[in-house]
Amino acid sequence: MYNVGIIGATGAVGQELIRILEERDFPVKKLIPMATERSIGKKITFLGEEHEVILTNPSLFSDMDILFVAAGTSVSKELVPLAVNEGVIVIDKSNAFRMDPNVPLVVPGVNDDHLHNHKGILASPNCSTIQLVAALKPIQDKYGLNKVVVSTYQSVSGTGAAAMTELEEQTRKLSLGEEIEPAIYPKQIAFNLIPHIDAFDDNGFTGEEMKMINETRKILAEPNLAVTATTVRVPVMISHSEAVYIETDKDFSIAELTSLLKNTKGLIVDELTQYTTPLDAMGTDEVYISRIRKDIANEKALWLWVVADNLRKGAATNAIMIAESLIKEKLL
Ligand SMILES: NC(=O)c1ccc[n+]([C@@H]2O[C@H](COP(=O)([O-])OP(=O)(O)OC[C@H]3O[C@@H](n4cnc5c(N)ncnc54)[C@H](OP(=O)(O)O)[C@@H]3O)[C@@H](O)[C@H]2O)c1
Repeated sequence: MYNVGIIGATGAVGQELIRILEERDFPVKKLIPMATERSIGKKITFLGEEHEVILTNPSLFSDMDILFVAAGTSVSKELVPLAVNEGVIVIDKSNAFRMDPNVPLVVPGVNDDHLHNHKGILASPNCSTIQLVAALKPIQDKYGLNKVVVSTYQSVSGTGAAAMTELEEQTRKLSLGEEIEPAIYPKQIAFNLIPHIDAFDDNGFTGEEMKMINETRKILAEPNLAVTATTVRVPVMISHSEAVYIETDKDFSIAELTSLLKNTKGLIVDELTQYTTPLDAMGTDEVYISRIRKDIANEKALWLWVVADNLRKGAATNAIMIAESLIKEKLL
């Protein structure tokens, strides 16, 4: 049993983490939920018991075995090294250490072999990357990847709890004919979409797009993989969707490739309803694949529609699965 700390326990990911620790019967001896002054005294129920959220404080680290950090990149940069110094194993949800060559960036079931060389920090990838690499990995293994082009349709929960409130409030106000004032997003998100996630880079790509490109290359261990992305925020509460174009090295048949995906753990090929929507995936831990089809112009290319719950598979479940794998492999 382990003493488990969570920084960001009141956030969109943190709340889901607590629910999933309970659901998966994670061996928690003591839960230490932390956030900012804003949340001190808020109550969290875990396994039928109420826990008060406490102020994040490095002096608490010495009492922890595992620490999940879901509070943003600057918080991680400051606090994660302090926790590691206290011998805590940290699973970080932020962008702070993902591209650090000394930090494994792991999606269990995709690159578990990367877990072995950890030095106290393990990074969980960006939500849109997790579902992408889950779909790509079996194809990479069997046919090789020549090129990947992805366009995303990302829900507002990917931005956090405040963005979910913004979508809800804008939708309500606009339905009543009232004025709205965008706060979290640069433009109105209700009844709209925004092709701008994270800051623009000098190369014209956004931070989110560069994360998808760099993280996919690192996880699939193909530093030169031709992968590119356009990331778009849509007025959906939970679950990210992706239209993915994949060119393979080897020939494939759609029947054989569909059967490969169907037989991959963690993937659900949705043949019954023809396609999965964000609402269909919400509240689950699988990556849903549908609209599997050969490209018209290229025999060695296909299209997939890939949907997953970003708060669960794209964040909390992945982080907990990393911890479970560490326990199983005796790497903790
Ligand atoms: N949302 C997703 O789908 C998703 C997916 C993958 C990764 N992530 C990453 O997960 C992290 C959390 O995202 P989120 O969506 O859960 O955000 P969120 O809903 O905005 O929650 C942020 C959490 O961090 C806490 N926090 C903020 N500043 C802090 C500080 N200085 N010290 C301690 N705690 C602090 C907040 O506490 P208060 O409530 O007290 O303010 C809150 O609990 C981010 O790094 C994000 O990039 C999110």
